[in-house]
Amino acid sequence: MKKYPLILDCDPGVDDVFAILLAHSTPEIDLKVICSVSGNAGIEKTTYNAQLIAGLLGAKTIIAEGASRPLIKEAPPIGTVHGTDGLGGYAKGFGEDRLAPISSMKALDVYRKILLESEEPVYIAAVGPLTNLAILFLAYPEVKSKIAAVSIMGGGIRRGNITPYSEYNFYKDPEAADIVMKSGVKLLLCGLDVTQKATLSEKEMKSLKESQNEFSDFSVKILSSYIAKDAAIHDPCAILALTNPEKFIYEDQYVEIDTREGITRGMSYVDNRKNQEKKPNCRVFYDMDLDFFRKSMLDALEHEASKKPDENKSPNDQ
Ligand code: RIB
Ligand code: CA
Repeated sequence: MKKYPLILDCDPGVDDVFAILLAHSTPEIDLKVICSVSGNAGIEKTTYNAQLIAGLLGAKTIIAEGASRPLIKEAPPIGTVHGTDGLGGYAKGFGEDRLAPISSMKALDVYRKILLESEEPVYIAAVGPLTNLAILFLAYPEVKSKIAAVSIMGGGIRRGNITPYSEYNFYKDPEAADIVMKSGVKLLLCGLDVTQKATLSEKEMKSLKESQNEFSDFSVKILSSYIAKDAAIHDPCAILALTNPEKFIYEDQYVEIDTREGITRGMSYVDNRKNQEKKPNCRVFYDMDLDFFRKSMLDALEHEASKKPDENKSPNDQ
């Protein structure tokens, strides 16, 4: 039995690719399903991209299509650093011949099935807008008792990236973030405070360029356009916060979400007034060991590069 049975909820998304890579290559993780959500691109594209990445990696997992739009209100139009296809323009040209299979069930019901049938509590890493999780908690609150923890890439206490106060995932669906923040489930919040630090140095990029395998070629290409606009590889932090919390600095705090429109849409803020009665509702991550982050990424990429060429063929190819 692996230590971390995991559901990965994402909106691939260039940095989501490296969360999928880590979830796939970490021996202690049993990647049960990848659920897509609309975010960095529309649901058709993020679902296809999840199938493509899992297929490229030869990940023995399924893809389940999630929510196609935010819970209540669409976000005002905002640019994307991920390209119109969600992968910097490289969603075509790699791995179309071996897409990972897609479930006949939607993400909501795959979540419910996995959680209710699991003999042990399940971990969730959510690295896109939290729409799927909010719907799950509203529709099937009974599944909360089967969740070990939800590790979220989202929010930011000291900064935003879409506005000075709001981070992309929470800006896209503030009501979903609010529902999850109030869910009572154990939450790890890897916001911009820590993920802005998650960059690759020349050393990692050089190793990537020298790896000469399909996934590293794909990684170099999707990073080439992304890094110039957003140097941080945000999403893998949510995986590492689960498996290696000792490499991070964090504090248990009471966090609220602003669901009003305007410059604070989706803002996540801490209420740490002395006399406030509210107990902490999440573990907020503020810093991490950058060398550890970079080594984790390099190890995962080198693990991928070390595979024999046909190791990543999908089952129906073998
Ligand atoms: O703000 C960064 C987050 O928004 C990351 O998850 C990125 O993939 C985008 O979804
Ligand atoms: Ca993402």
